[in-house]
This record gives sequence, C-alpha cells and structure tokens, in this order.
Amino acid sequence: MQKKYFNYGKQKISKDDVKAVVKTLNSNFLTSGPKVKEFEKMFKNFVGSKYSVSCTNGTSALHIAFKAINLCNGDNIILPSINFIAAANMAKNLGAKIFLADVDPLTGQMTPENLLECIKKNNVKKVKAVCTMYNGGLPLNADKFFKIKKKLKCYLIEDACHALGAKYSLKKNVKVGSCKFSDISTFSFHPVKSITSGEGGMLTTNNYRFKNFAEKFRNHGIEKKIEKKKNNWSYEVVHSGFNYRLSDLQCALGISQLKKLNNFVNRRKQISKIYNKLFKNNHLIIKSTNKNHQDIQSAWHLYIININFKKMNISKEKLIQTLHSKNIGVQVHYIPTFFQPNFKDLKKNKVKFKGAKSFFKSALSLPIYQSLKDQEVKKIAKIINSTLIRNAKK
Ligand SMILES: Cc1ncc(COP(=O)(O)O)c(C=O)c1O
Repeated sequence: MQKKYFNYGKQKISKDDVKAVVKTLNSNFLTSGPKVKEFEKMFKNFVGSKYSVSCTNGTSALHIAFKAINLCNGDNIILPSINFIAAANMAKNLGAKIFLADVDPLTGQMTPENLLECIKKNNVKKVKAVCTMYNGGLPLNADKFFKIKKKLKCYLIEDACHALGAKYSLKKNVKVGSCKFSDISTFSFHPVKSITSGEGGMLTTNNYRFKNFAEKFRNHGIEKKIEKKKNNWSYEVVHSGFNYRLSDLQCALGISQLKKLNNFVNRRKQISKIYNKLFKNNHLIIKSTNKNHQDIQSAWHLYIININFKKMNISKEKLIQTLHSKNIGVQVHYIPTFFQPNFKDLKKNKVKFKGAKSFFKSALSLPIYQSLKDQEVKKIAKIINSTLIRNAKK
C-alpha cells in the first residue's frame, strides 16, 4: 500500500458538506441565488462586520478592495515583502507604485516599525494604501497599524487570507474581518485555508460605499436601481467590472464549513500544542512563533518553524527534499516578493530586507490541518527532529 503523504495543508470535507452541495445542485439556483446571500449574512455575523461581499477567490477580493479605494496608476501602496503574490500582482496590474517593507525575521510579518522604515527610507510622500498580511494566521499589531493609517490618512486593507477565525482580542471577542482596525478585510476559501468552498473569496467592510462598489464590480459593473424593480429586465452598467461571482454551489459548501470553523481552529490549535511540546528541546529550531499570545488568538493557519541552518550540514533545499522523500510535504511561505522575476525592480527599494532574507532562510511550514490525527502529528515531529539532529554540525 502507498504510504500516506502529509501535505502542509488540506481541506476537511464531511458528509454534511456533500449533502449541502447536492441539495443546492437540485435547487432552482446554481448561482446568484439565496445561498450567496445566506453565506454573506452568516459570514458578516460571524466576523462582526457590517457588510460582506462574496467573490471568486482571495485574489479577486484583493482586486475589488484595491478598486474600491480607487488605487490608480502611480498611487503608492506598501506591502510586506513576505507575502503571497496576489496583492503585489493586483496592485501592479492597477499601475500602482509598490513599496515593499521588511518583516520580522521570525514571524515573517511586517511590523509597524518596518512600515515606518519603508516610508522613511524610500521617502514616500503620499501613501495611498497599506495592505497588511497576517502570515500564518496570527493578527499581530492590528491596532498599531490602524494608528499609523490614521496619521498618514491612508487606506488600510488587511489581506486576512490566513486569519479567518483569528481574534485581535480574546477578552473582547474582536474577530479578524470585523474591520475594527481596517477599511476592508479580504479572505480566501482555497482548500488549504481555515474553511473552503473549493475556490472562493470574501471581503468585509463597515463602509457602505465600498460594499456597494464591490457588489457591482464583481458583477460586470451592473447596477439595478431599486425603483426599477417592477421593470426588472432593465439594468445599467456604471463601470467596467468583472465576473467575480461565487456560485450557490460554492456558497452552500462555504455555509456548511463556516458552521465548523470554531472546531477547525481548535483542532489546529491542539496540533500546534503537540508540535510545540515535541520541538521544545530541539536546539536547531530557533524559536517557535506558534506559541499562545496573551490576548490574541491565531487562526493557526500555518505551523512555521525557524531552523538555525548555521548549525546544520544540510541546505534548506536539501532538507525539504529529504522530508518530501519521507512523505512530509513541508512548504515555504513565502519566497520574498523582490526575488520574483516580475518584481525584481523592487530590489531597488531603499530597505535592506534583512528580516525577509533571514525569514526566508530559516522558515519552514509543517503539515497542519484539521483531519491530522495526534499520532500522525507525533510521527511527523519525530521524523523532523531526527532528520534535523542527524544533519546537525558536530
Ligand atoms: C495571503 C494570501 N493572500 C491572497 C491569497 C489568494 O487567495 P486565492 O488563492 O483564493 O486567490 C492567498 C492564497 O493562497 C493568500 O495566502
């Protein structure tokens, strides 16, 4: 029998998910129907925002968000240098001028200090927008970024694709997506994320203008005036939008999954705890950033370890290959944006990117997903510990 391969992330689909999708398949609406509205309502109630607008994926959510704030040719936007490429691609497609900020070498997240350094060193006169990203799912520094946004009078978008289910404050039960500290938050329902709809995305906001724009932009820029309801064949195209609609089939799956989100997050937390315990005495792991933070709750999207390769006889590339050969699908989140050929001009940014380079050298994402069993987590940790120790400098 073929050995089980442990990818770094994976969906958990149960019978009730399948039932929900099949029920919708047999209904009158496969798209633009009641499940879309139900999913959006449930989502905004869950995160605690005023509005939520579904769309095809996390990338289109970012595209819509950037268009909603009217990010245009030549506008300055600041992004973390460790990031999934979607935000940079969308900003570049709109002709915006991208400035990359350095990140913390252990979390891979841009800090408020990194953001201010980026503005100062690049002498950015007018910042149109900052887009943060909670790498791994831990929403650090949201309140501090909000203070900077107010001072700079710019927009703050949270690419919260890793952080569905996370809380800025456990005591006050303030969830990521509530937009307490941002103008817009964006989410992805790709299978490796907190919940899945196959492919899918959502943006949340407390601003009616952004919500209104988003609903039109994801549907070709079409506006249906309420007073024309009797005459409902009529519509007006008010701007050049896209077809970014999420179908009822996908929303049915999203609804079914959202009901289980708290359980999913708790399971991920349990897995992190097991890893933390088993890696505690491994001197080759610099420091786990996966520990509990006092009043912040992570979505535990990734379990990242930072390895001290100075103490190792093996390169990171070789280690990844070795672990893959042992059926452990580790990943790197992410290659710094300035190393990508499409963004090589951003290396000219005045920031040195010491943190991003160090994070990229040391960080490895281990398998974490809700259906991983305790015994499997222990087995993975054992293989990682023994592989690291075997390849340590004497
Ligand atoms: C941080 C981040 N932003 C954006 C995206 C894009 O989401 P999607 O794949 O749904 O387009 C992802 C997905 O991998 C992500 O991790």
